[in-house]
Amino acid sequence: MLSQKASQFTESVIREMTRLAQIHKAINLAQGMPDFEAPTEIKEAACRAIMEGINQYAITWGAKVFRDAIAAKAKSRWSLEVDPERQITVTCGSTEAMIASLLAVINPGDEVIIFEPFYENYGPDTILSGATPRFVTLHAPDWHFDPRELENAFNNRTRAIIINTPNNPTGKVFSREELQCIAGLCQKWNVLAITDEIYEHIVYDGHTHQAMATIDGMQDRTITINALSKTYSVTGWRVGYVIASPELTQGIRKVHDFLTVGAPAPLQEAGVRALALPEEYYTDLAASYQRRRDLLLKALRDASFHCSTPQGAYYIMADFGGLSLLNDRDFAHYLVKDIGVAVVPGSSFFRESEKGSRYVRLCFCKKDSTLQSAAERLQKISRQSGGHR
Ligand SMILES: Cc1ncc(COP(=O)(O)O)c(C=O)c1O
Repeated sequence: MLSQKASQFTESVIREMTRLAQIHKAINLAQGMPDFEAPTEIKEAACRAIMEGINQYAITWGAKVFRDAIAAKAKSRWSLEVDPERQITVTCGSTEAMIASLLAVINPGDEVIIFEPFYENYGPDTILSGATPRFVTLHAPDWHFDPRELENAFNNRTRAIIINTPNNPTGKVFSREELQCIAGLCQKWNVLAITDEIYEHIVYDGHTHQAMATIDGMQDRTITINALSKTYSVTGWRVGYVIASPELTQGIRKVHDFLTVGAPAPLQEAGVRALALPEEYYTDLAASYQRRRDLLLKALRDASFHCSTPQGAYYIMADFGGLSLLNDRDFAHYLVKDIGVAVVPGSSFFRESEKGSRYVRLCFCKKDSTLQSAAERLQKISRQSGGHR
């Protein structure tokens, strides 16, 4: 009874692991959602907006005040001139931003290049939009790509390349040189860059986020996707946005209108308050995540996982090959049931599950106390996992 498209993908493994965490009362390091509160001033702004009567549909492509704030941020942070009337679409999270953008630009038979391992949603996104995905490997342990492999992925059918930086699940932050290499190929093959920059403020050890739209010649061929979800710890608000050329925006707005009509109106008002937070909010955000990263990295290394140090975002891809002979799914089920920590099996981030079979992904967007409890539980693995080897 299901459509060919819906039959081609399974339910989200990440959300499945969250349900298993609830059943087994495990600490949920699977789904990337904070267990701490959003900043008080933006919660108050949301309550105020509701009480002041902002409770009906906003303009379909986003409340003017919020689009103005997004354009002002693009100007102050990236020196980019973005017309809020013609170049911004406010969406229900980055999730809708990505699918609306793909539906607006993809024709049957078009190819979309995706770096692998990839954020789980991009697989179903390409199927729903009718695109044929072509995967280019990010090579462990530093998750670099080989420029020749990338070049070989481009051809006359390539319509777009999806870049997620800072990257989920690897923690890679694409350097300006890497973006320039991608940009050169986009220009050579007349390809769009769709960049998911949802972790732009979460970078460590002096790494800096680079926006593809700021690379020479790329502003008009870049679709920049972002959201309030991660930067302001409001994943449940479902407010994101797309910045693109006026021509692309026309298409994205039409798709968005018929997918969702609009994002929550009062939360867009609160978004204006969020974007007005001072610079130190972002410095503190990155510093607190770096502390959490170090806590979880140490716990994983102490428990004999092999992990490279994330440069950004809030995930660790942990290689458990030295700990257990189980495959990633069985190991993740063992962790959630017997150890009490929910993680995501690595195969969720690869087209061929075999490539992810030695990895699990853990997130560290959690209170220190949550991470400390998880650390204590993880130390039990080495004692128990003798049976798996
Ligand atoms: C790379 C990436 N893009 C998009 C999303 C989803 O964002 P949103 O909650 O704004 O839809 C996530 C959430 O984990 C993510 O990691």
